[in-house]
Amino acid sequence: MKIVVTGASGLLGRAVVKAANAKGWTVVGLAFSRARHGLEKVDITNASQVRAVLEREQPDFVIHAAAERMPDRVENEYEKTRDLNVDASESITLIAKSVGSRVIYISTDYVFDGANPPYTADDTPQPLNKYGITKLDGENAVRNADPESLVLRVPILYGPVERLDESAVTCLLRLVQATATPASVSHYEKRYPEHVSAISDILCQLCEKVKQEPSISGIFQWSGLEQFTKYDMCVSMAEALGLSHSHITADSQPSSGAPRPYDSRMDNSKLEQLGVTSHVTFKDGIKQCLQKWL
Ligand SMILES: NC(=O)c1ccc[n+]([C@@H]2O[C@H](COP(=O)([O-])OP(=O)(O)OC[C@H]3O[C@@H](n4cnc5c(N)ncnc54)[C@H](OP(=O)(O)O)[C@@H]3O)[C@@H](O)[C@H]2O)c1
Repeated sequence: MKIVVTGASGLLGRAVVKAANAKGWTVVGLAFSRARHGLEKVDITNASQVRAVLEREQPDFVIHAAAERMPDRVENEYEKTRDLNVDASESITLIAKSVGSRVIYISTDYVFDGANPPYTADDTPQPLNKYGITKLDGENAVRNADPESLVLRVPILYGPVERLDESAVTCLLRLVQATATPASVSHYEKRYPEHVSAISDILCQLCEKVKQEPSISGIFQWSGLEQFTKYDMCVSMAEALGLSHSHITADSQPSSGAPRPYDSRMDNSKLEQLGVTSHVTFKDGIKQCLQKWL
């Protein structure tokens, strides 16, 4: 198996490279501003750079994880984000198809409005913010460019981070640690966090399945198996790490900033029917990735 991973310097991409290497696959990781540790610098908005890599490597799969994924940043940088999340995704898929590679585009639960969960892969998306719009348009661009492409929608992610604010989950540690400072944390939006190692495992299983059964294509999705608000995450994090959470109170109002779905739970049955599953319990996963930050 040979794969090219875009966004290989990012939170998910690093885990995908690690999981695929552990399987003994040939892995070519692409990055942009953090192109180091064996990653190749490719600006995915530059089609000729993408073509050069894919023509040279001719991978079985391109795991396309590179994106701008901060909703509040996207609200202010919409056109620039569309170049990356939509136009580059289409161009990567057209180039991949021309060299015989299949794309797996990483998408998000934010394509849904959160009013009627759980969402199946066939439910009609209705994003509430500009980030969700770019990711949905990216999905459609990829699927139109190559009907044999795949989309994997994932929930809020956490895992080993280079900075605590790299994940919307791990950034909560600073609030938990500041026991002398009372903090009010959102207890409104419901989320299903998953560890990046579980998503990477699912991606590897999906590549293997598709290689065995090339007729598999389309939209797949995975939600973590436990429901949390950000307040719940703080409590669970504190308990897992043996810290106090008595200074943290629950805020029952919707989060500020770009509008976000209330309950973005996605139905996992399409992957489960393929026998593709993986989950890390929040308590174990958060303890493992935050220990070094204590
Ligand atoms: N994180 C989450 O909670 C979450 C939730 C749902 C869905 N997702 C989706 O999961 C995927 C991975 O997210 P992530 O959290 O791993 O993202 P991330 O940590 O923010 O990483 C983004 C990646 O995109 C790369 N990139 C940005 N601009 C580029 C360009 N012009 N050319 C090439 N590469 C470029 C970055 O490279 P450099 O850093 O080297 O510049 C980085 O590797 C995304 O599609 C995201 O929408 C994430």
